[in-house]
Amino acid sequence: MTGTRRIVLLSGPNLNLSGQREPDVYGTASLDEHVAVARVAADELGYLLEHLQTNHEGDLVEAVQGARGRALAVVINAGALSHTSWSLHDALAAFDGVVVELHLSNPAAREPFRHTSVIAPVADGSIAGFGGIGYGLSIVAVHRILEQRRTR
Ligand code: DQA
Repeated sequence: MTGTRRIVLLSGPNLNLSGQREPDVYGTASLDEHVAVARVAADELGYLLEHLQTNHEGDLVEAVQGARGRALAVVINAGALSHTSWSLHDALAAFDGVVVELHLSNPAAREPFRHTSVIAPVADGSIAGFGGIGYGLSIVAVHRILEQRRTR
């Protein structure tokens, strides 16, 4: 991995409807607005942010595989796949950079099927329940973890 300090931000199924679907749960900001917040934080801290939204599990798996050796971190809001996708779990387990699991809502405070995340065990940590604020926080978290690793 030479030069570019890249962070890959991944948005899973239905995240493209952010701002339109269940605004009482997910807020009124669009995904583009959330990504813009993450991009400002990344710019400020000296990272290149690459974003992909897809409604397809396999595309997310391929994006995580594609981050191998190219990105320092993956920040992922996998939507409902967070609760079900073992293939995403395995792909993230094979990624050797920082992994941050991100959610707009707080799944732990919602329906029981959202209480389990199958990607949490392969993430460095999770940011959930802060709405759009989480997008900026996730980039700061990546930066701090990388700094910590560098100085250890
Ligand atoms: C979500 C939470 C998931 O449970 C849900 O399926 C989503 C969005 C969030 O950002 O709060 O699609 O990941």
